[in-house]
Order: sequence, then structure tokens, then C-alpha cells
Amino acid sequence: MLRYDYTNMLSPQIKDLSLSKGDFFKLERESINKDKLTFRNLIYSNVEEIKSIGEEIRKKYKNYVIVGIGGSDLGSRTIVNALENKSGVNILFIGSNTDPDELDSFFNNISLEDSVFNIISKSGETIEIIANFLYIESQIEKQMGRDKVEDHIIITTSEPKSTIRDLASEYNIQIIEGISNVGDRFSVLSIIGLLTVDIMGLNIDNMIKGAQEIDEQTNSLDPEYNDALAFSQLQYLYFSKMKKNISVLMPYSKRLERFGFWYRQLWAESLGKKLSLDNKEIYAGITPIASLGSTDQHSQIQLYNEGPNDKVITFIIPDHFDSNIKIKTNLSEVSYLDNVSFEDIIKKERLATSISLMENSRTNGTIFIDRINENSLGELFFFFEMAVSYLGVMFNINTFNQPGVEKGKEYMYALLSKPGFEKEKEKLSKYT
Ligand code: PA5
Repeated sequence: MLRYDYTNMLSPQIKDLSLSKGDFFKLERESINKDKLTFRNLIYSNVEEIKSIGEEIRKKYKNYVIVGIGGSDLGSRTIVNALENKSGVNILFIGSNTDPDELDSFFNNISLEDSVFNIISKSGETIEIIANFLYIESQIEKQMGRDKVEDHIIITTSEPKSTIRDLASEYNIQIIEGISNVGDRFSVLSIIGLLTVDIMGLNIDNMIKGAQEIDEQTNSLDPEYNDALAFSQLQYLYFSKMKKNISVLMPYSKRLERFGFWYRQLWAESLGKKLSLDNKEIYAGITPIASLGSTDQHSQIQLYNEGPNDKVITFIIPDHFDSNIKIKTNLSEVSYLDNVSFEDIIKKERLATSISLMENSRTNGTIFIDRINENSLGELFFFFEMAVSYLGVMFNINTFNQPGVEKGKEYMYALLSKPGFEKEKEKLSKYT
């Protein structure tokens, strides 16, 4: 089971500018009502329909292409990066960008006949996704004819009325109902992420079980017994008392590199808020940085160790790696490496980095997971979703909206002259 070691976050390990366990506070039960956290319902939902959709896709196609952006994309990318694909269906991604070169190269290298595209957009209005849909549809139509579009595109969406729904009915495309009441960045443990798990031939139930185990721990509102709460309190206390407004997440596992990108969206969109719940301008936020051990020991650690002491650093490392590769050498110059496993090396790299940071009074903690699999990934997703929810309570903000993202979307529609955005277009005319 996931465990959070925060020894190097507290005195006496950290000599200057440090907190002690006495600074922990108990969260009031009224301030966080777990039953109102809509993303939590996902881990107690029936997943049988997801499994049957997954089975059909596995039977029919060689390529499953996810076309989404933000929360409709980042969770699945994390899953594909972390877990071994056992089904043989290639999971591919397009649509998280409007880079024409990426799109062109993608379509030059894919067999459309073997592929199904899942267009995922909760709102059904996101410009990147609509634009990608139109291009994908045109490619299928050009190559196989309009009547084949419905065989190679499915649409996953939630809003009852939207452009993407209109397009679905125009082309007779099957719609998979997404989830309502849960924001995109909290949707990974729903059909949005779990369908990917199933198509990879992996076990959805184990992922859900991992999340449920963390959920059980969060029944306690005492940080001694609730690691997600301890994690968020330390982030909050270092932010509010010592102005540490940067949170670095540094997994020591290449397979968790994409987890850092998922976490970036969760932290940035949930915590970066101008207004408090009582409408005061507070400009809250902790800047998330995705880093990778051991790679970034050779780039960012210099800054973390000797630059401004404004960061909380969190490592993630598995207790067990899947591969047991060892070095064999009889060269005397490197004899200390003989019979040493790479698992041992990467673990010692994490330890050496954490000690060197601690000696410079740089707060760092480590999340240990058993090994990378469906279960531990479920634990990690839910741990961070709960931690950010606690932080939202501490900051007294709405954790679940993203007005700053919406504004940019509106201006984009205006710049493209979408009907209904004339006022915004007029406003923007002075800049263009
Ligand atoms: O968190 C958010 O709401 C956004 O970043 C969305 O994930 C992103 O804009 C995509 O939205 P949609 O799924 O509605 O296309």
C-alpha cells in the first residue's frame, strides 16, 4: 500500500525554516464533506459497461486512438506510460494539440482501416477537439467513403447539447455517455481512463481497489493516519508560513514520467484561483513542476539544492521494479558496480538526492508504492485527487472550476468568428 514518508519535511532533519509535527492540524469534518466529492462516486460505480465496450474494441481494431485534451487525455497517457499493454491493441493519441505537422505525420503513418478514434470531450465544444474531429472525419471519408465514418469514430461526451453531439448525429456516430458532475481533471477513474485500461487488456477492478484503499484511509481527518491529508497540510503550511509556492513532483521511474503531467493539470487548474469562496481576491496557487529522477538530477537538482528555498519536493518510487537487471563486470576500475542491480542504483540515487537536499534544508518527502501496476496507479490517482481537495479547503477556494481556462476558450472562438462570440470579437479587435 502507498505510504508517504515526510521525515525530511520536518525538524530536526531540516534545520532551518522547518515545521514540526506539532504544526499539523486536524481538519474539521464540516470543512470537507467526502460525500460531496463527486469524483469519489466514480470508484464505487459499476464498471461492467466499460468492460463490454472495451472488449468490442479489442476484437475489432488494431489501433485505438484517443482524441482529447487536458483531462480527457492526460489520464490515459499516464496509464499507457505506466502499464504494460497486454492486449496488443496499439493505444495512440492525437488531438491534444493543433500542431499541423504532428497531425500530418500521424495520418501519414496510420492505417485507418485498422483504427477506431475515440473523440473525447466533456463539453463537446473544445476547439482543438472539434477541429481534429473534422480532419479525422475527412481523412476517413476520403479513404473509405462517408458511410464508413461511423465504423471508425466513436464520441465520448457528457453535456446533453453540444456541437460534438450535433456532429455525431450528422455522421450517425455512436455516443458513449461520459460522466456529468465530475470535472475533466478528476475523471481518470471513470470511463475516460478506465476504458484505456480495459483496452490494454488490464484489470480495471484492481485500479479501483487501489483508489478505494486510499479512500478508506481518508476516513480519518487526522494527518497521523491519513497520508493524503499529511501531504496537503505540509504543502499548505510551507506555502503559508514559509512562502514555498512551488511543488516539484519527481518520480524515480520512467514509467511514471507522465504521471507528473497529469498532476500538473490537477494542481494548476484546481489551486490557481483569483477568488476565495467568500469572493476576496487572493490569487491562490502552488506552481506544480514535473521532474524525473534520475534524469533531472543532472539538470534541475542544482537549482533545487542551491537556488531559492521556495520548493517542496516529492519523490515517488516503487519498492519493487519489474526487471532485475544486474551489471556484470570484471574490470577493476569499476569493480564496485559488479553484481549491482539497476534497481539498487535508482533507489540509491533517490536516497542520495533526498539526503543532499535535506542537508541544505530543502524540504522533501517520498511516496513509496509497492510496484507499478493497476492497483498502485489507482492509489496514486486517488491520493492526489484527495490531497488537492484538502488543499482547496485550506485555501478556501473552489477547487473544481477553471474560469481561467474558460476565458481563453471564449477568446479563441471569438478569434475564429464563431457565432455567439461577437462581443468578445469586438473587444479583441484592439489587439489584432
Ligand atoms: O479541466 C478542464 O476542464 C480542461 O482543462 C479540460 O480538460 C479541457 O479543456 C478539455 O475539455 P473537454 O473535455 O470539455 O473538451
